[in-house]
Amino acid sequence: MNILLNDEIVSRENAMVDIEDRGYQFGDGIYEMIRIYDGLLFEWEAHLERLVRSAKELMIPLPKGMEVLQKNIHLLMKESGVLNGSVYIQITRGVSPRTHHFPEIADPVLTAYVREMERPLEQIRNGIKAITTEDIRWLRVDIKSLNLLGNVLAKQKAVEQGASEAILVRGDIVTEASSSNVFAIRGQECFTHPTNQFILNGITRQVVVRLLESTNLTLVETPFTKEALMEMDEVFITNTGLEVCPVIEIDEQLIGDGIPGYYTTQLQKAFEALLLELIPQ
Ligand code: PDD
Repeated sequence: MNILLNDEIVSRENAMVDIEDRGYQFGDGIYEMIRIYDGLLFEWEAHLERLVRSAKELMIPLPKGMEVLQKNIHLLMKESGVLNGSVYIQITRGVSPRTHHFPEIADPVLTAYVREMERPLEQIRNGIKAITTEDIRWLRVDIKSLNLLGNVLAKQKAVEQGASEAILVRGDIVTEASSSNVFAIRGQECFTHPTNQFILNGITRQVVVRLLESTNLTLVETPFTKEALMEMDEVFITNTGLEVCPVIEIDEQLIGDGIPGYYTTQLQKAFEALLLELIPQ
């Protein structure tokens, strides 16, 4: 596997992480994960915009190679031969003797690599089971930072209970899930948490918000409770890997009829149509 290291492509063995890289010691960095469909980067501009925003919020200067990032990622994709997969991009504040405050001199370190990935069609078609758990993360999860322990622990809990996602509840409000955004439908209203510091503004979420215009659903961006969630007709999650994925059971209770719902399926079809539009046949 080849790795983009700032503005150079090197082999994995030569892409060394310094022991004093702040990403390694403090989780002092940010990342993006972008889908590659048929050799095309899905929603590149939106991901780049979010990466730049995360850097700005954490006052991490943009690294060397940022202006040629897209070109270099295309080179990585070409070299890897991956047509369907994902690209992971990470920027850390850089290398410096360990002090909590920002170092005076440190060059941010950018790394990126490409991986092959199948679409998880089984989960997309049949839906997944989820649990709910307390949202114990910090109060700036709108920043896509490397600090993911709250997410990791939540996901682990889900897996241990035979589920594949953990829906996070802060107080009694459903925020998002451990690695996805949460939408819930009741009647003709589609609820999702508003974009603020309590959720990551998912790129797939943004796509789905646009796709909602092609349905009879009205988008309601408002906080809702766990109690309300359990009473919804349909629930689905969105992220870069799972796209639009039905949630058919939460905390061992069926949602609706326990099968992917009508509107979720409609949105999946709209997502599929969008992909067909983007990918020249
Ligand atoms: N995570 N919320 C959280 C907490 C996430 O980690 C993610 C995605 C999302 C959805 O964002 P997007 O639609 O831009 O993928 C929402 C990625 C996939 C990850 O950490 O691997």
